[in-house]
Amino acid sequence: MKIAFLGGGNMASALIGGLIARGTDARSISVVEMSPAAREKLGARYPVHLSTAPDAAMQGSDVVVLAVKPQDMKTALASISGNLRGKLVVSIAAGITLKALSRWLGGHRKIVRCMPNTPALIGAGIAGLYALPEVEKSEREKAETILRAVGEVVWMPEERLLDPVTAVSASGPAYVFWFIEQLAASAVKLGIAKDDALKLAKQTVLGAAQLACASPDSPETLRKNVTSKGGTTEAALKVFDEAKLAEHFARAVAAASKRGEEMGRELGGD
Ligand SMILES: NC(=O)c1ccc[n+]([C@@H]2O[C@H](COP(=O)([O-])OP(=O)(O)OC[C@H]3O[C@@H](n4cnc5c(N)ncnc54)[C@H](OP(=O)(O)O)[C@@H]3O)[C@@H](O)[C@H]2O)c1
Repeated sequence: MKIAFLGGGNMASALIGGLIARGTDARSISVVEMSPAAREKLGARYPVHLSTAPDAAMQGSDVVVLAVKPQDMKTALASISGNLRGKLVVSIAAGITLKALSRWLGGHRKIVRCMPNTPALIGAGIAGLYALPEVEKSEREKAETILRAVGEVVWMPEERLLDPVTAVSASGPAYVFWFIEQLAASAVKLGIAKDDALKLAKQTVLGAAQLACASPDSPETLRKNVTSKGGTTEAALKVFDEAKLAEHFARAVAAASKRGEEMGRELGGD
């Protein structure tokens, strides 16, 4: 599979690094990147083909990965529209709908839209994927191979579900960072030194997440296992319940999903 990237920034670098680490030949990857700094950085790390504008390497690719910022997408697609001839297009741009992508690509329909997240930068990401009906099974597998290079994938049965995916897994790392901040700040308030507090908070989140992933038990069971009657955890969770934290949390995630939907309309307009 010959892969061309349109945009060679952070996310494209992560995908390229992951693909090469999993055995993809760097010579089968080409990147169109306008920024000289980003080109130099990428070229220093990987022996991929680099260009400043779509060229023969992109023409000869099987898959084109759209990895420019959402606000640059319409202009970037104008440079490749009409030259895709049945190629699979995989977009990782936040918020840009398939309707807008297809329109900007002159009616092209072989498009997979993906919503990755920042842990992809260290190979621990998760992405939600949705494909237009014209995308064949073998092409879905190609898209999956590319995204799996930096983590897990989950296919959505409807495109609209990419807004909740955005609210859960793309914004999700920020909720977890916030939780780490709060846990560490609470530790400091109780007298623990700042560095120790941060170490305790980070490792607790990492360990709990690893346990939740490795254990056959549900997170609910794991939580109940730590919550002894009349104990310390129960005292903390009682405060969460009294403050209706679960309801506030659900509202926060719903607000993110709604904003994702609005941004899709704003970004996809002509
Ligand atoms: N970073 C994440 O964790 C993350 C998570 C989920 C989704 N995404 C999506 O991934 C995409 C890429 O994000 P990123 O963080 O990798 O952005 P980035 O680091 O800014 O990379 C995009 C690169 O594309 C270049 N570019 C702009 N217009 C171009 C064009 N017409 N042709 C070729 N190259 C062009 C930019 O150059 P200039 O800087 O000179 O403009 C920049 O170097 C975005 O659409 C974003 O929504 C990212």
